[in-house]
Amino acid sequence: MTRKLFVTTALPYANAAFHIGHIMEYVQADIWVRYQRMQGEEVHFVCADDSHGAPIMISAEKAGLSPQAFVAQIAAGRKQYLDGFHISFDNWHSTDGPENHQLSQEIYRRLRDGSHNGDLRLITSKTIEQFYDPVKNMFLADRYIKGECPKCGAKDQYGDSCEACGAVYAPTELKNPYSALSGATPVLKSSEHFFFRLSDPACVNFLREWALGEANGKPRLQAEVANKAREWLEGKEGEDSGLGDWDISRDAPYFGIEIPDAPGKYFYVWLDAPVGYLASLKNYFGKKGLDFDAFMADPATEQYHFIGKDIVYFHTLFWPAMLHFSGMKTPDSVFVHGFLTLSGEKMSKSRGTGLSPLRYLELGMNPEWLRYYLAAKLNAKVEDLDFNPEDFVARVNSDLIGKYINIASRAAGFISKKFDGVLTDPRARSSNPFWNSLQQGAAEQISQAYEAREFGKAVRQIMALADEINSYVDQQKPWVLAKDESQKALLQDVCSDLLLSFWQLSIFLSPVLPALSRKVAAFFGIERDLVWSDLQQTPQKIGVYEHLMQRVDAAMLDALFEPVTAAKAQAAPATTTAAAATAAIEPLAEEIKIDDFAKVDLRIALIVDCELVEGSDKLLRLTLDAGEGRLRNVFSGIKSAYQPADLKGKLTVLVANLAPRKMKFGISEGMVLAASAADEKADPGLYVLNPWPGAKPGMRVR
Ligand code: MSP
Ligand code: ZN
Repeated sequence: MTRKLFVTTALPYANAAFHIGHIMEYVQADIWVRYQRMQGEEVHFVCADDSHGAPIMISAEKAGLSPQAFVAQIAAGRKQYLDGFHISFDNWHSTDGPENHQLSQEIYRRLRDGSHNGDLRLITSKTIEQFYDPVKNMFLADRYIKGECPKCGAKDQYGDSCEACGAVYAPTELKNPYSALSGATPVLKSSEHFFFRLSDPACVNFLREWALGEANGKPRLQAEVANKAREWLEGKEGEDSGLGDWDISRDAPYFGIEIPDAPGKYFYVWLDAPVGYLASLKNYFGKKGLDFDAFMADPATEQYHFIGKDIVYFHTLFWPAMLHFSGMKTPDSVFVHGFLTLSGEKMSKSRGTGLSPLRYLELGMNPEWLRYYLAAKLNAKVEDLDFNPEDFVARVNSDLIGKYINIASRAAGFISKKFDGVLTDPRARSSNPFWNSLQQGAAEQISQAYEAREFGKAVRQIMALADEINSYVDQQKPWVLAKDESQKALLQDVCSDLLLSFWQLSIFLSPVLPALSRKVAAFFGIERDLVWSDLQQTPQKIGVYEHLMQRVDAAMLDALFEPVTAAKAQAAPATTTAAAATAAIEPLAEEIKIDDFAKVDLRIALIVDCELVEGSDKLLRLTLDAGEGRLRNVFSGIKSAYQPADLKGKLTVLVANLAPRKMKFGISEGMVLAASAADEKADPGLYVLNPWPGAKPGMRVR
């Protein structure tokens, strides 16, 4: 019977372009989905932008756009990545779409009224006190409140935990708190909030069964994930057990979905985000004229979510509980993956040295190299996966090209030139039908590995077959047979075996290499995507062989990892606004001797941290590392031009031997360099200096 599969990846926040971690998640899910499609299953693979929440609202405001316009702009950039890496979503939608408003509100009403759940009402309200920003006129989420740690006194710590001593606390416990948005001192204000009563025994019992039980005859969750869920449900030893109620409302202003019958209240983004899975499917079914309700009500429908390890809590507790108690289908499983790291380090967006997926494509690197590399390293565990450039080059060049592609290039020439492209039928001869021995067992094992998301295992099995085939080539030596006219028939058989083996390996690799496998299909005269049952076919002819895939040039990897800032700096067009063109150039200062200049000690400094200064609308506080083995505190009047996040992690130039100056806010130990026009009215811009990539903190500028 055909399976009916509903598959999603996590919905990315619509406040930034994709990074390589997103691409990894999509590639993982896409391989699984393509494998299922090749088996003839009915698959619906959807995703959407996660459009709501305070951070997106704030980013939109900074960009001078409405939140809707802001997320639309992000959404418009998605396609080039998805097409570029051959990610085959059937639909891409947004959590701000009408389907999601309607579905989220419906689920909420059912939970509130107990209408689908024997009258068990799971929403309550409570008045709570929270920090409020009197300048911005909004309640502040923990991440927008900073202050001194109540335990160790460290300055500028976030509202939930201290980075210096690790203490965890409520934002109201911070000493001298300030709003990270306006710098204002927050005030306590009370407001009514809505809660999902997860602590209700019915919830806890259901979740225990759901998370720790089985689905389709297997444990529902990966072992590591089930263990986590158990810990959350039962509490660690010596701690209070059980779940707390979940605060699902936020006060206006908020970019989100309004809570029914509660003016000015919105769903917290994590309430409506997973509903977005259903909303995207519904939107897709609408476009296709399919019956969404019937599909979701069908007990045969299987629902799977691919997600990263950081959002397990939401997907194994909140989400199944929301669905179950509103009378809806719960996920069959949640497939959790680890994080992509780069040469052993966590990806850093701020340092600008990540692996940019767009740059990868722009450099003309083959997207299937990356798909193959990720597949070779992925398994069904919650393990981090390291992208290592040398390893990447080695696996692509020696395995993918050296072992697999090579089989075709070693045999195709003989068949084309000497036999007019005609393959012999392996069934018609008893001697060494190598192609067929391949199928025994191997196809079944590879198939199971794909199904179980053990892609690394599948790739290893495929490459082991490729090894066998290559040693068969070395044994049979077609290039020797080719010189002996009496061996002509054998040459045709051997090369046919090789090409038929290549055909089969291509089917096995098809979920990973979809574009390549289409080319291979065309080479064998088939103009469609390959399917698993093509393993039974024995093509009889080949077309003209063109090299199927290039090797990676290691220099491409160097270009890929060049700091992105350099590329940006080169690409940025010179600004020639009318105002800038007419702004007067400031007259030169009095001439100096080189010795005069040498008195000024300029150093490269890394902006380790950058923060707003409470009570100042001009200054930013910079924490600088000028390679001295200590950090410097410098106040700089550049707030009009930069947000702290723009500067953090960047290099700049510091006047390092300037006498320290005591200011109202503390001591400033130096000065950073910035350019500005003489006539600040004509061009009010301020431009902090940023050295070319390669400069290191502590280097002298002369
Ligand atoms: N918007 C939420 C998800 C809502 S789902 C109803 C979110 N968005 S996210 O953009 O931050 O992350 C999207 C997905 O990317 C998550 O599954 C997350 O785990 C994954 N990844 C983020 N960084 C990653 C890596 N470095 N490596 C692999 N996956 C990573 O969370
Ligand atoms: Zn602390």
